[in-house]
Parts: sequence; structure tokens; C-alpha cells
Amino acid sequence: MKQLKTPYYLINEHMLLKNLKIMKYIKEYSGTKLLLALKCFSTWSTFDLISKYMDGVTSSSLYEAKLGYYKFKKENHIFSVAYSDNDIQLLKHISDKIIFNSISQLELFYRTLQKSQIGLRINPGVSYSKFILADPSQKYSKLGVNSTKEVISVLNKISGVMFHYNCENANYQSFSTMLDKISLKYCSILQNVQWVSLGGGVYFTKKGYPLDKFCQKLKDFSNQFKVQIYLEPGEAVVTNSCELITTVLDVVKNIKEIAIVDTSVAAHMPDLLIYRSSAKINNNNLGRYNYIIAGQSCLAGDIFGEYKFETILKPGSIIRFQDTAGYTIVQKNWFNGLKMPSIAIMKLDGNIKIIKKFSYIDFLNSLS
Ligand SMILES: Cc1ncc(COP(=O)(O)O)c(C=O)c1O
Repeated sequence: MKQLKTPYYLINEHMLLKNLKIMKYIKEYSGTKLLLALKCFSTWSTFDLISKYMDGVTSSSLYEAKLGYYKFKKENHIFSVAYSDNDIQLLKHISDKIIFNSISQLELFYRTLQKSQIGLRINPGVSYSKFILADPSQKYSKLGVNSTKEVISVLNKISGVMFHYNCENANYQSFSTMLDKISLKYCSILQNVQWVSLGGGVYFTKKGYPLDKFCQKLKDFSNQFKVQIYLEPGEAVVTNSCELITTVLDVVKNIKEIAIVDTSVAAHMPDLLIYRSSAKINNNNLGRYNYIIAGQSCLAGDIFGEYKFETILKPGSIIRFQDTAGYTIVQKNWFNGLKMPSIAIMKLDGNIKIIKKFSYIDFLNSLS
């Protein structure tokens, strides 16, 4: 990797494939269709591989939907909190399913679309999320229709419904219990649609997840209501399949040793700041040398975490942050004008291909 200077994201296709094989298993044993959530990961250079194992993508905006249409080229779904008239005029030609968030938007646009294209998001009032920011059933949530009666009143205009109620949920029992509640509460709706999306947020690629029980549960639901189920995983598809590789630029001391790396949480892994969590790194955290690893931006709180190393860190030491594919590459930004990490892929044959390098010109063009 001599040609590639840090910082760079290194996507590992071998690790990605491990997750994709789980997708294949779920598809085969439950009949569920799996859609990659582009909001989580949309590095399209990997789509040739991902599209062999997944049925399509789901988007949150017109641009993501266009990306899915031109680059993934399989089933193309979209759910947006609100659409403009212009969005719908363009989306109707490229989307297999357009899922509305409200009855008012459904009423506004349904005549323009075919019934088979139209879905409605329901807020089931149950959810699993450790973070209030990502909890779709929180009090006053803007997400989905709450009233069962209202959904029933528009059943003649839709072909399917969506419930997104999980976030990093590795607990099968809670997924299953909530699905039972949904089955009971929305029985009369579920009997009158052709497809149901259960959204994303189920962490079924986590080691030890009871895949067979999960598949059986999905199969039972699909048989009970005679519906095609869709899942919209993002994080589960790309978990553990990418590193952010960085170099220590300086080590300063303020009671503790602080190693400053040539990247930034705020600019290159902003989800860590949003959810107040630490980055994972590739050491066992057992060494004798303790360091806070801080980002290069001006923010005092731009900190990856505090770790123990077996060797002393000095300028030039390499730090590899783990599990940096989901909600990371899609969210990187030009804060402080910091050098944006390049993107490289380790292909299945072990060769590393650099797919993107950013320069001052990209920074310039992102501004005006
Ligand atoms: C509607 C919807 N579908 C799918 C996802 C993907 O979730 P995850 O990446 O946690 O699987 C999200 C995430 O917020 C979502 O809101």
C-alpha cells in the first residue's frame, strides 16, 4: 500500500462476503427479500459483489434512489419522510416501491403512481433502540402513521406497508415479541396487502445470532398473512468489513498521553460523536502504554477513545480503526478542510484496489 497515504478506508471484500453469505441463507430459508439500506453504505464499487447476494436497495432520497437505479440495477425501493412533487415525478420511473410516511402525502401523490408501487409506513408504537435519536417510536415521533383506522381507510390505494422498529437489535427475543405484537395489532391490515417491509436494524450478522429461529419466524409471518417480506439491513451487511487506517502525527501530554492522528471523528466518523461512542481498534487493549487517541480537528471533544498499547506511540505509528463501513463513508465531510480519507478495497483475491482519492479540488468544488 505504498502508493496510498493515510488516512484511508480499507473495505475488505472477504469480510463483506461473510455477511453476504448470511443474507443468502436468510433469503433461501425464509423467502425474505433483502434490500441494502443505502443510507448506511453506498460505496457503489462494491455493488457488483453485494448485488449477487441481495435483491436490491432502499433509499431515503431521490439521489440515493438514482444511485440504486443506475449502479445496483435490481429492486429499487424508497422511503422518504416527505417527497416534493419533483421527487415523485422522477421517482415514479425508477422506483419499484415508493413508501409514504403520511396519509396526506399518499393522498397527494397516489394518482400519479401504480398501486403496486405504493407503500405506507406504520408507526407500530413499539421499538428497540439504545439511542433516542434513532428511536422511531419515541413520543411525538414524525415517523409513520399511528392510527390503524386511518391505514384501513387507504388500503385500496396501497400494496404494502413498512414497519421500521429496530436499531442495532441483536436480541432475537425482542425482535420476535415485537413482531407478534405487530401481527396481532395490524392483523386486518396485513391480510390485505401483498408485501411488508420490516425495515432495518436487526443485527443478524452478529456472531451467535439464532438464524434458524429468525428464518422460521419470518417464514411463519409470511405464510400467515400471505405477504412477501422485505428486510432493509444496512449495518448488518457491512459490519466488520472496513478499517480506517491512520497515522499518528504528534503525541502531546495533558496529564495523560494524547496521540493525534491524521483523521477526525467529526469529519470521518461522525456517528461516534452523534452516539457518544468510542472507535474500535485492532489491539486487545492489554498493553502497558495508555493513550487517548484524538482527531486532528479543532474540536477538543474530537476523540476516538482511550486505549492501551503494547508499544509506545510516536509520529508515524499506524492506528487502524475497525468496523468503519456503516454510516461512516456516507457521512464523511470537509470539516476543517481536513484531507478526506481515500477509499480502497481489498478484493477477494487479496489484491488492494484504490477506488477513490480526494484532493484540494474536491474540497474546492464542494464549496462555492
Ligand atoms: C427505514 C429504515 N430502513 C433501514 C434502515 C437501516 O438500518 P440498519 O443500518 O440499522 O440496518 C434504517 C436506519 O435507520 C431505516 O430508518
